[in-house]
Amino acid sequence: MYVLGIETSCDETSAAIVKDGREILSNEVSSSLKFHQRYGGIVPEIASRMQLETITAVTDSAIKEAWVKLKDIGLISVTSGPGLLGSLLVGISFAKSISLSLGIPLLGLNHLYSHIYAGFLNGIDIQLPFVALVVSGGHTSLFYVEDFDQIKLLGSTQDDACGEAFDKVAKILGLGYPGGPIIEQLARKGNPRKIKFSCSNTKNPLDFSFSGIKTAVLYYVRRFTSSPVRQLKNRQTGKQANRQTKDIAASFQETVIEALIKKSLLACKIKKTNRLVIGGGVSANSKLRENFYASAKKIKVKVYFPPKELCLDNAAMVAGLGHRLFKKGYRSNLDLSADLNEAITYGIRRRRRHKLFG
Ligand code: KG4
Ligand code: ZN
Repeated sequence: MYVLGIETSCDETSAAIVKDGREILSNEVSSSLKFHQRYGGIVPEIASRMQLETITAVTDSAIKEAWVKLKDIGLISVTSGPGLLGSLLVGISFAKSISLSLGIPLLGLNHLYSHIYAGFLNGIDIQLPFVALVVSGGHTSLFYVEDFDQIKLLGSTQDDACGEAFDKVAKILGLGYPGGPIIEQLARKGNPRKIKFSCSNTKNPLDFSFSGIKTAVLYYVRRFTSSPVRQLKNRQTGKQANRQTKDIAASFQETVIEALIKKSLLACKIKKTNRLVIGGGVSANSKLRENFYASAKKIKVKVYFPPKELCLDNAAMVAGLGHRLFKKGYRSNLDLSADLNEAITYGIRRRRRHKLFG
């Protein structure tokens, strides 16, 4: 069965065709990132306008690349939340219009669950149940996954998301946006033990907090650095950053990774599982992957990451998860709308078998 996936939750416009929930035939991603960079973060209005302009071409290209015909598509799955409201509505309206005009079933999906499913596109079977960590620009959450329609939230960030902390620290250091890849690059040449940062404690040990460490970096920069890297010629790569900046990047990154590992492995222990699935933009970080593998191995927990290109927002993960839930009988009706409500992270709420429209 061919599934068309559509993803527009943040700055990307993506469309993909996935066969039988596993085989990626196409995965087109168009990003409006360069239009946001001068503002140091995503501007929702710019994101949704670009999505409106590109979604038809991106979808057309995904269908052509996969060598399938629209009439052969058995399902359209689309991200319905959480995400930026205007951006989500572009994808949802587009998916609904194809669904209605061609009579193809429709399914709205949770973005965070799609990030978890990305690990299943690696061609390997991951046995259920497992603990899942989603680390992205908007979310940092731990889940217990018994199946993709039985997902329980174990903990989440109480303030900034992990990716957001990378982005803000990069800004403090005078670097470009998004901060994650730049910090990772600088950290390679820095000493991760040079500065002692820490992540704040949380009442629920499986929750996260990253705003404290971001502020600690800010105070450190103000107090101990004479000339951060504000005059950097190339803000986007961090070229010419001094040793101190590299040490700050490495120490910050190491502390954040340590917190993610500690809490994820604790969740595995509490839920008595030795499988841990990780997804979301920050999981593209090589140091994070390396440290997770090493720490988990010591306690015989097996860690699964998606391929790096599937860590960031993409529609293949949406198409894959759509297939899995469709086979279980899930459908959306044409009243599907963007769901920004936190409750959406606790489970897919519609369960209407064989009832596609209304
Ligand atoms: O999952 P994603 O593409 O979008 C959301 O759903 O939010 O994640 C984007 C986030 C950004 O905050 C970005 O800085 C971070 O992922 N990121 C990274 C890396 N690549 C992207 N963070 C750390 N290291 C990286 N290599
Ligand atoms: Zn995402």
